[in-house]
Amino acid sequence: MVVRDNPCQSGSVDHFPDRMRTIKKVICIFGTRPEAIKMAPVIKVLEESTKLKVITVVTAQHREMLDQVLRLFNIEPQYDLNIMETNQSITDITIRVLKGFEAILLKEQPDLVLVHGDTTTTLAGSLAAFYRQIPIGHIEAGLRTYHKYAPYPEEMNRKLTGCLADLHFAPTLTAKEALLKEGVNSEIITVTGNTVIDALLQTIKRDFYFKSALLNGIDYQTRKVILVTAHRRENLGEPLGDIFSAIREIIDRNEDLEVIFPVHPNPKVRELAEEILGDSERIHLIGPLDYEPFVNLMNRCYLILTDSGGIQEEAPALGKPVLVLRETTERPEAVEAGIVKLIGTSKDHLIRETQLLLTDHQEYEKMAKAVNPYGDGKAAERILNGILNYLGLAEATVEESVHGL
Ligand code: UD1
Ligand code: UDP
Repeated sequence: MVVRDNPCQSGSVDHFPDRMRTIKKVICIFGTRPEAIKMAPVIKVLEESTKLKVITVVTAQHREMLDQVLRLFNIEPQYDLNIMETNQSITDITIRVLKGFEAILLKEQPDLVLVHGDTTTTLAGSLAAFYRQIPIGHIEAGLRTYHKYAPYPEEMNRKLTGCLADLHFAPTLTAKEALLKEGVNSEIITVTGNTVIDALLQTIKRDFYFKSALLNGIDYQTRKVILVTAHRRENLGEPLGDIFSAIREIIDRNEDLEVIFPVHPNPKVRELAEEILGDSERIHLIGPLDYEPFVNLMNRCYLILTDSGGIQEEAPALGKPVLVLRETTERPEAVEAGIVKLIGTSKDHLIRETQLLLTDHQEYEKMAKAVNPYGDGKAAERILNGILNYLGLAEATVEESVHGL
């Protein structure tokens, strides 16, 4: 069995010729749309370093939603596990990632595996690396709701990944504090900002032209556009039904409103959305949007209703109010800043909160202010420096992000 030392522990004995490499091998593994968006800036920055050889592994836990991000950021993975199946279970994803990634680790013998966030790919990728005793760097570390099943399975995925990680890249100070409370040594935590802001700043364009006739045809000055996304596993079924019924009622009450809902391809989301919202003229059910048109649509819309994690980070940077269709959030910074409001999934409450922002200009203006608690667009650089330090390839100390204070 291959046993590898942790290069962060000084004085460790070198058992393997690979440890003598002056160029170190880093594997980045990811599988879903949000991981790809948030890993892309990191991969680009790591690839520019002459001290690292970067290998990109995609599990393809998502397929089309992943591929569009790879195309946008010109990322060509060296390995593609191609595991996605319709209605896949978490257990199936875990087994396929564990088996598939183990074979790659055995072949490539990397010095570090980088994972991102809290998906099943994240946890299974970390577990496979741990079983081979390969150090793990966790990007977007330290997010917590402290509720085991909310979000499910993400809260436990990120917590367990944190237990396995040797390096923690926390996006904010709040995230770092959560890790410290769990006993993680502060020397292996770096506050970096969230790489989603790096990706966002590279993708937003003031005069963006949509290829879709629908999105180009809307007059965003005179029509109020509500952008909706929903996919969380704990919202599937009744909560999603309540959300969709509320949206239906809101559109009926407001003549100047258009709802744009890029529907997640999960059949459990798609079928219910079509059933409840499918026949309304001003509710536009479309497929998932590619990242570039999506963020540029976010930049033009009036209000966002979502249960997404990443959108809670991007919208504040664009000054767009967000009503979060969840009971808890692991991203308290934007709530504290007043741009994001947690409203849950109750139909009446959702109608009331949305109506307030549609009819009370002052309430709307209070939320519609651009702030940036999640980063300055330089998170990927900080992650590169942290990795070079960890692997003994740089002397420079890492300047931390001051965001999320
Ligand atoms: C996954 C992550 C979740 C993350 C979300 C981002 C887990 C358990 N869940 O949830 O943390 O917030 O991605 O979107 O890791 N599908 C397609 N094409 C695609 C992608 C998905 O058809 O490109 C369909 C498939 O039928 C698939 C289903 O969606 O079975 C669910 O995908 P899955 O990755 O299991 O869960 P998500 O809800 O997307
Ligand atoms: N997103 C996208 N197209 C869409 C919906 C979302 O590109 O139709 C982007 C969004 O800008 C954000 C990310 O996908 O960067 C969030 O992904 P998702 O909501 O699926 O996952 P989560 O962040 O909740 O894990």
